Amino acid sequence: MRWWDIDRVLELEKELFPEDAWSRGMFWSELAHARGAGATRRYLVAEDDGRLVGYAGLASAGDLGDVQTIAVARDQQGTGLGARLLTELLRAATAFECAEVMLECRVDNTRAQKLYERFGFAPIGFRRGYYQPGNVDALVMRLTDPSSSLEDVQGTEING
Ligand SMILES: CC(C)(COP(=O)(O)OP(=O)(O)OC[C@H]1O[C@@H](n2cnc3c(N)ncnc32)[C@H](O)[C@@H]1OP(=O)(O)O)[C@@H](O)C(=O)NCCC(=O)NCCS
Repeated sequence: MRWWDIDRVLELEKELFPEDAWSRGMFWSELAHARGAGATRRYLVAEDDGRLVGYAGLASAGDLGDVQTIAVARDQQGTGLGARLLTELLRAATAFECAEVMLECRVDNTRAQKLYERFGFAPIGFRRGYYQPGNVDALVMRLTDPSSSLEDVQGTEING
């Protein structure tokens, strides 16, 4: 993901996360840490025939990775793109030498949880009222040794 992708990312973001969409500034500040020798972020976009159909981001701090976001356009969901984006994030986590990767997910988002479980993420707790203003709890999930969960999947073009 580059700064010129942000407009299209925001369109999808507002559609997919209507209650707690990230702002333009949040994407800008994440991307500020995504390039160069000391980079701690990896942000990806997936394009299909020039259309932006998905994006995902990972942050690393020491040997801990955190899935910051992952999203697929509604008409592309269920095609395996989410799995491909997650695979690329875990590849990034491996490159950052993360020993484990954490994520938060709305407790009612069973589809996303199924995807994460398939990759070996296990639930480890809850964060009460994590999603505001809706006051929805987050399920916290953890994956140890991300390099062992890399799947060999192919399809839609994914770029950094
Ligand atoms: C969660 C999300 C990223 C998954 O992406 P995706 O491209 O649909 O994922 P995949 O096609 O790789 O499928 C992942 C799993 O979702 C489930 N799934 C797929 N299509 C489904 C459908 N039509 N109905 C219900 N579940 C479905 C399946 O469990 C699938 O696993 P499987 O391949 O073992 O069957 C996507 O649904 C999305 O963007 N949702 C809205 C934003 C969001 O919730 N992001 C995650 C925040 S924590």
